[in-house]
Amino acid sequence: MTEYIPYAGPSVSDLEVAYVAEAARDAWYRGAGTFVRRFEQSFADYVRVRHAIAVPHCTSALHLALLSLGIKNGDEVIVPECSWIASAAPITYVGAHPVFADIDPTTWCISPESIERLVTAKTRAVIPVGLYGLPADMPAIRKIAEKFNLHVIEDAAQSLGGKYSGKMSGSAADIAAFSFHGTKMLTTGEGGMFVTDDEAIFERAQFLRDHGRSRANYKNFLNTEVAYKYRMSDLQAAFGLAQLERIDQLLEKKRKLYQWYRMRLGDVAGLALNVEPPEFVNSYWMTTVVLDPSLGLTTADIRSRFDEYGIDVRPFFHPMSSLPAFAGYPKVEEAQKGNKAAYSISPRAFNLPSALELSEAQVDRVCSLLKTVLRTAGRSRKLPRSSAAPDRPMKSRANSMSSGLKPKAPKRSLPS
Ligand SMILES: Cc1ncc(COP(=O)(O)O)c(C=O)c1O
Repeated sequence: MTEYIPYAGPSVSDLEVAYVAEAARDAWYRGAGTFVRRFEQSFADYVRVRHAIAVPHCTSALHLALLSLGIKNGDEVIVPECSWIASAAPITYVGAHPVFADIDPTTWCISPESIERLVTAKTRAVIPVGLYGLPADMPAIRKIAEKFNLHVIEDAAQSLGGKYSGKMSGSAADIAAFSFHGTKMLTTGEGGMFVTDDEAIFERAQFLRDHGRSRANYKNFLNTEVAYKYRMSDLQAAFGLAQLERIDQLLEKKRKLYQWYRMRLGDVAGLALNVEPPEFVNSYWMTTVVLDPSLGLTTADIRSRFDEYGIDVRPFFHPMSSLPAFAGYPKVEEAQKGNKAAYSISPRAFNLPSALELSEAQVDRVCSLLKTVLRTAGRSRKLPRSSAAPDRPMKSRANSMSSGLKPKAPKRSLPS
């Protein structure tokens, strides 16, 4: 029987176990909050920002960001078409509405030109997303934001460790939000971080995430506004702190996974993989493939074949303006008509398994199957087979598994 290959998952060492055990024993009474404070300080140092606030998830960090900036009913916030719904849903929590911008056909991140076209008198902010590990074009986006007086909230849920012009992803926006969901580069099970350099925004966010209680009033239990309870526990923070101490190792493994894929698929005709433009560092959270239209294949075709073999591939994000969740929202029909790159790429793109514990042999197995699927599809459509599509990776197959790809019965999958 062939083994199941998941699309994502963490790397957990004895360090996480030791820190969580320490928190379980000591982070109460006078020790309460110690791991949260250490995690926040170390995270702020890593991202090179002044303030970090640990929260229950990235969704709450984005909600806090919009609240802290005073974004409200009737405002517009520009977000990329292709991202997880959590990039846009919090905009609706504050009564504003998302305006979906097209993506860049090469980086797949929000297109700065598209942002500029969509700005109106009601636009208050833009939320660029570091997609699959590559930060959005923050220098260009900052220029547009300055021109139109917009706030920038970077959704760095997927781009921890990525860089632009020497800056860490999350350090060049008014506020940035990170996710520590179990599928992410760094995990706390569920969790997130709100970061900012701005003192006033930091104080407002602290107040709003603690039921409208200022830090000065902490022990008076005096609430001056109805707000939210968005805190992280010491147990999660202890896990996160250990992960952060191992961040270079985690990033190196993601880069290695990408290189293993690139070595085997980089020269296959009709496949485009993640890019790393000059001046950018891609953290390669998820190795991603876009199929050329000439192959005549869709993401659904690939997924159904991979499902037979117990290999998870995850579809590229659907354009959010196509989701039933946003039907009837303002400007959705314009987005459906105008956002050509998002609508063209999404149905023929997918993420390859990128779990932190994958081996080179497993990557080899994934690539062999993908090449087999492409070859079979090519034959059935009488397409010329690319001479650049070798059956074998170009480098050593020392770790490779046997070529037997037998269908596997039950499919298991991770939550999103
Ligand atoms: C781009 C993006 N933004 C936001 C989120 C939300 O993160 P969380 O699940 O921590 O709320 C995710 C999670 O998958 C994401 O990928």
